[in-house]
Amino acid sequence: MKAFVDKDICIGCGACTGICPEVFDMDDDGLAVAKSEELTADVVDSAIEAQEGCPVCAISVD
Ligand code: F3S
Repeated sequence: MKAFVDKDICIGCGACTGICPEVFDMDDDGLAVAKSEELTADVVDSAIEAQEGCPVCAISVD
């Protein structure tokens, strides 16, 4: 599984980085970016939690 942030949708609220800092980080432009690597088993659940917690549904995990 991999995580992806659509920067055209992200509003930079930062919730994802609070829920799952292992996968999500804020970029210099104030928007979230996801690690490009394959998600390891120990972070999949929190990555999905971040996906579900994003107020504008900018995150996909699949
Ligand atoms: Fe952006 Fe959603 Fe994260 S708005 S900062 S992708 S929680």
